[in-house]
Amino acid sequence: MSAPHSPLDVDRVRKDFPILERRLAGDHPLVYLDSANTSQKPAAVLDVLAEHYTRHNANVARAVHQLGEESTAAYESARDKLAALINAPSRDEIIFTKNASEALNLVAHTLASGLADDPRYRLGPGDEIVVTEMEHHSNIVPWQLAAKRTGAAFRWFGLTDDGRLDLSTIGELINERTKIVSLVHQSNSLGTVNDVATVVARAREVGALVLLDGSQSVPHQPIDVTALGVDLLAFTGHKMVGPTGIGVLWGRREVLDALPPFLGGGEMIETVDMTGSTFAPIPHKFEAGTPPIAQAIGLGAAVDYLTGIGLDRIHEHELTLTGYALEKLNAIDDLRIIGPNSLEGRGGTVSFVVDGVHPHDVGQLLDEQGVAVRVGHHCARPVCVRYGIPATTRASFYLYTTFDEIDALADGLHQVKRFFG
Ligand code: ALA
Repeated sequence: MSAPHSPLDVDRVRKDFPILERRLAGDHPLVYLDSANTSQKPAAVLDVLAEHYTRHNANVARAVHQLGEESTAAYESARDKLAALINAPSRDEIIFTKNASEALNLVAHTLASGLADDPRYRLGPGDEIVVTEMEHHSNIVPWQLAAKRTGAAFRWFGLTDDGRLDLSTIGELINERTKIVSLVHQSNSLGTVNDVATVVARAREVGALVLLDGSQSVPHQPIDVTALGVDLLAFTGHKMVGPTGIGVLWGRREVLDALPPFLGGGEMIETVDMTGSTFAPIPHKFEAGTPPIAQAIGLGAAVDYLTGIGLDRIHEHELTLTGYALEKLNAIDDLRIIGPNSLEGRGGTVSFVVDGVHPHDVGQLLDEQGVAVRVGHHCARPVCVRYGIPATTRASFYLYTTFDEIDALADGLHQVKRFFG
């Protein structure tokens, strides 16, 4: 099978990522197929981080000196870049968090706190929370805790046999009691890209909020929050060629204004006295304490890098890779794809099982050949339970992934099969 044409000059892209030159034990070249777990970082991002600490390091919004002003300007300029990336109506709607989990917890916790003035933003008995069976644990556990704390009911969409959301129950599942629907855009374990428009349309009919987990979609395709019509979007920096320790919550101004603060501390207040406090407007209301300054600046550089290449071209490259990978994997006997087995409604994350071989053994034998994949339940255990398997092996692609690397995966899997007879 000859490799299809990609819109990206991948050899050139790879030169931007120093780690891709690594050779591993046994002098195997690194074949990095674990970008859904964390992406690699281009020199453009690494250089900005070093430059910040070397020349501009100071705290933000607190110092009147020159370094403080430089640091604050760079931090706030990262906010502008993130707002432009997702077409947010206002830069104030970008909240920096430490990761996507914190962004999701922020929403669950503030809705459950009962502190909002407007009852639409207070969960209580009789209310319903809706998620899906393909969520990452970070979009399940905070809602289970919120349900426990408030007496709200916790409900979820099931999955079809081919790894898609079962929307046949949508009319009953999202109903007048639903306060929030929180769902993943692209599943980290199945690769499925969900039909957000259908969920948003139903949520609008009943006045429910929609929170989208974009951790696996924002790095890989153009995202426009206005066109998606959601109320809130959470994502993380380290999966989109940015540093670890930085995430983003975007929310419509009306929603963020109505939610009470999450963490209390410095810089999130308007005034404090011993009888009570008032709070800063967004975004600062949700950014208590010294924020992840260098990480936000690094994420701004990551946005520049990705938009310089073009998210539409990155998306197209990944679809081409995924089509090639599906063909190669489907040609291996006893290998089953867990998730959509066609390019329709899916992204570049492919999970599979090899009958008779535990995924951990698959992962270890691939690693011995320099091929880095993830094995396990990928922090989305209900997916494994749904399909009656203990774990999967997962290969995930990005802008620097080559067709040769997919060949290396397939060759490695043939060796796994030979090893296990
Ligand atoms: N959510 C990350 C993954 O899917 C950690 O691997």
